[in-house]
Order: sequence, then structure tokens, then C-alpha cells
Amino acid sequence: MTHADHPIAAPVNDLTVTDLLDRAIRRPDAHLLDLGCGEGAWLLRAAQLHEGITAVGVDISDAGFDRTRAEADRLGVGDRLDLVQQDVVEYRSPRKADVVLSIGAAYAFGELLPALAAARRHLAEDGVVVLGDCFWEREPDPALRAELEDGPQKYADLPTTVARVVADGWTPVHGHVSTLAEWDEYEWSWTGSLAAWALDHPDHPDSGQALATSAAHRDSWLNGYRGVLGFVTLVLRPTP
Ligand SMILES: C[S@@+](CC[C@H](N)C(=O)[O-])C[C@H]1O[C@@H](n2cnc3c(N)ncnc32)[C@H](O)[C@@H]1O
Repeated sequence: MTHADHPIAAPVNDLTVTDLLDRAIRRPDAHLLDLGCGEGAWLLRAAQLHEGITAVGVDISDAGFDRTRAEADRLGVGDRLDLVQQDVVEYRSPRKADVVLSIGAAYAFGELLPALAAARRHLAEDGVVVLGDCFWEREPDPALRAELEDGPQKYADLPTTVARVVADGWTPVHGHVSTLAEWDEYEWSWTGSLAAWALDHPDHPDSGQALATSAAHRDSWLNGYRGVLGFVTLVLRPTP
């Protein structure tokens, strides 16, 4: 229910998704692999826009898979989209991908560089990686940094983030820094659809918890990382 209004689980709007996919898909019969695909919304869009591509999405959770599969069938692209419930760390692809996506899911591998290493293992020669990850738009206060860097993943500013990627052997051929409007649309959709569901189902045993979760997330965003945490999506090719 949280992503009902915004199936992309990242602060990236529809136009940006389309533009990034158009830039990444360089051949009509491209095969795409999304590591940490969420509901599979990026791949659904790709299959819709590029009629010759095939796509596999892998996520540890299958939440939203049924809805995406039903939508894919309705659009006549279901036979080109496969969604797999598995830990991406364990996933072994039967074929190389022309485009590997990792959007807001680098943490599945620990952090950015291990995620890129995994993408490289799955990537065909001349392939393209679409990597979306957070960075610090402004220096966070120590409490916020501690809250958002409580796992192995640490963030840097934008130039440092891009420099780490370049030093790892990648050349950015495009990049998109999410606007505040994209963040706002994402966060309001996330918290708003959860709150709306709770209000529409006052007798449901989970509605109280849903309202509390929505409010807590909204507070931590508005009083915490709004305008401080950034999100960049890079279109990358291996540096020869
Ligand atoms: C912020 S969401 C992004 C989803 C999707 N890339 C998108 O842009 O809509 C991060 C996703 O990573 C998935 N994830 C986290 N750890 C994972 C793992 N070890 N294996 C597979 N997926 C994982 C989560 O279930 C979640 O769907």
C-alpha cells in the first residue's frame, strides 16, 4: 500500500525514469537485470517502452510482484518480464545483461562499490549500469548521519560519490540528481498512501500502526533529511 501512488521506490519521477531507460537501452533486443527491483516498476516501464527487450527483476521481497505481473499481462508484455524473489547476493544469472539496474538498493550488497562489483559480474560486454544511490546534499548534523548511516553504507557528497564510482572503473555517460520536487512527490506518496489506507480502514487491526508509521516517517523526513539527503542516478559504462 505504501507505493500504490508511486511504484518506483526512489525519488525519481516518471519522466526521469523514461529518460534514464532510453539512455541506458542501446539495442532493441537488450536484456535487463534489476538487482533489488522492488515491485519491478522500472522493468515494467522498460518493457512497455522498448518492445524488443527482456527483463528480470530480483528482490528479496515479492511485495507488489502480483500487481506488476498483472499489469504486465494487461499491457501485453508479461512474457518479457520475469520477477524473482531471491537475495541478490545469492542470485546467479543464467545470462549476461546489457543493462544492470541498482536503484536505491546498493545496501543489499553492503554499499556502493560491492553493488557495482556485482553489477559488473552480471554485465555483458558493452553493457550499461544504471545506479541510483543517496549522497549528502548538505553536511548532515551528527544525529542525522548516525541515523541514516547505521549500517555498512556511508554516504559522501556528490563529487566524492561520483569520484568513487569513476575510480572503480566506470565512466558516467549521464546522471540525474533528483530534485526537491521529486523527493517531495516520493515522500508524500509514500506516507500519504499509507495514511489514506489507514483512514479508509479504521477497523483493520493494522490501521493504527499504519498511521503511526506514516507519521513517524513523515516527521523523520520533514525534520531530518529533507534537502540534506540527495539521490543521484548514474548511467555508467565500464572504463576501457
Ligand atoms: C528503496 S527499494 C528500491 C526498489 C526499486 N529499485 C525501485 O527503484 O523501485 C530497495 C529494494 O531493495 C530490496 N532489497 C534489500 N536487500 C535485498 C537483498 N539482499 N536482496 C534482494 N533485494 C533486496 C528491498 O526489498 C527493496 O525492494
